[in-house]
Amino acid sequence: YVIGVDLGTSAVKILLVNQKGEVCQEVSKSYPLIQEKFGYSEQDPEQWVNQTTEGLMELVAQFGGNPEDIEGISFSGQMHGLVLLDETNQVLRNAILWNDTRTTPQCRKIVETIGEQQLLKITKNPALEGFTLPKILWVKEYEPEIFEKAAVFLLPKDYLRYRMTGSLNSEYSDAAGTLLLDVSGKTWSEEMCSAFGIDSSLCPPLVESHASVGKITEEFAQATGLASSTAVFAGGADNACGAIGAGILSEGKTLCSIGTSGVVLSYEERKDQDFEGKVHYFNHGEENAYYTMGVTLAAGYSLSWFKERFAADESFEAFLQDIDTVPAGSNGLLFTPYLVGERTPHADSSIRSSFIGMDASHERKHFIRAVLEGITFSLNESIEIFRDHGKTIDTIISIGGGAKNETWLQMQADIFNARIVKLSSEQGPGMGAAMLAAYGSGWFSSLKECAESFIDSAKTYQPTNENVERYKKMFGIYQQVYSQTK
Ligand code: XUL
Repeated sequence: YVIGVDLGTSAVKILLVNQKGEVCQEVSKSYPLIQEKFGYSEQDPEQWVNQTTEGLMELVAQFGGNPEDIEGISFSGQMHGLVLLDETNQVLRNAILWNDTRTTPQCRKIVETIGEQQLLKITKNPALEGFTLPKILWVKEYEPEIFEKAAVFLLPKDYLRYRMTGSLNSEYSDAAGTLLLDVSGKTWSEEMCSAFGIDSSLCPPLVESHASVGKITEEFAQATGLASSTAVFAGGADNACGAIGAGILSEGKTLCSIGTSGVVLSYEERKDQDFEGKVHYFNHGEENAYYTMGVTLAAGYSLSWFKERFAADESFEAFLQDIDTVPAGSNGLLFTPYLVGERTPHADSSIRSSFIGMDASHERKHFIRAVLEGITFSLNESIEIFRDHGKTIDTIISIGGGAKNETWLQMQADIFNARIVKLSSEQGPGMGAAMLAAYGSGWFSSLKECAESFIDSAKTYQPTNENVERYKKMFGIYQQVYSQTK
């Protein structure tokens, strides 16, 4: 067996997986967000450690077998969060998380100091509030006494792993979200560090995602019931692990994951492809591979918002049951899913949603379908950026809320103009973490081989010409709404 630990934003989810890739046990433990001021989002790293320890203890007890049969453990983690440690490796302050938005001035300063082109050349990504460097600069400016004591920074799951092993590392897929990594060179960037007065010793040593970083400590073994022989593998960023867990492991493979936010993510084998910062470009959890990613902030959230406001008492099934009687394009009704701003392609936190083209004949079901279409159009903007930069997007694995409804799956095929594949079971990033542990433990000769054995597709949806054409016209109008409503 192997264990995949997914250290998320609201909870840690832990999976025990056997050699066939089946989930045998599953435990989830939540922890709160600390939001002291508007825009602040923090967590206490000690809670990650405590909840994971408890979760593992429960998992091992439920398992009931010989703990020595659990060979390895690895991690998926919420990206970008800043954990600062002093020289004795004590946590100096709460972690500042990816969804904290206090750092707009620091982002501006990053661009002014290093220049947009140089930033993109080194880090492949624009300066966004969520990333780690702006958070380090915020601490430097507003909590100089803490910054002075800082000896090293870690990302959330790297801190958890440090506490389980005593070994202090990061790995490329998470380091890519800091704005301090030379993404194609796979080293911490001296140029970025020195431009912002950051001693490069603040950056932890880097290893590959499947690399073994040692065994769990005796103390941790006792606290959880795991055997002290359990090998620990570095793990990856949640989006990288989500990609691994859905088998996005070769050029052309693309993932559409719709949760509260929505992500489209495409495998990239080239380290020097230039997307001009229009989409994220991060190191994959697979050695020497990359992925490019676009984000719609309010994807599933747009749908749950609409249901909450206008049909709170209904089940999702009842709410969605009539949408297949509405023709593609919702008879001209159009929605933009900018309820909380937008990330890709507009990176605009102040833009807001619209319904456009309302007609006296429209019924509630047209509005519901228009919301689904608007979310899907927004994700298609990222796919179009991939295609404009030469990527072939013909097969998309759809997971999350977007994969739960047949009409929405067919809509994705028609709007993305690609074959949509639904998986027979989806476990998200935790499965990707378990696969890193399986590969690291030597069960397979590559992650691809592991994916072939662990991941099955259940159903495929093909685009239909008529709807593809209709949606193309509508997408052209959709793309104008941003500038017209800004
Ligand atoms: C990615 C991002 C989020 C977090 C969520 O850039 O900010 O997807 O990784 O955990």
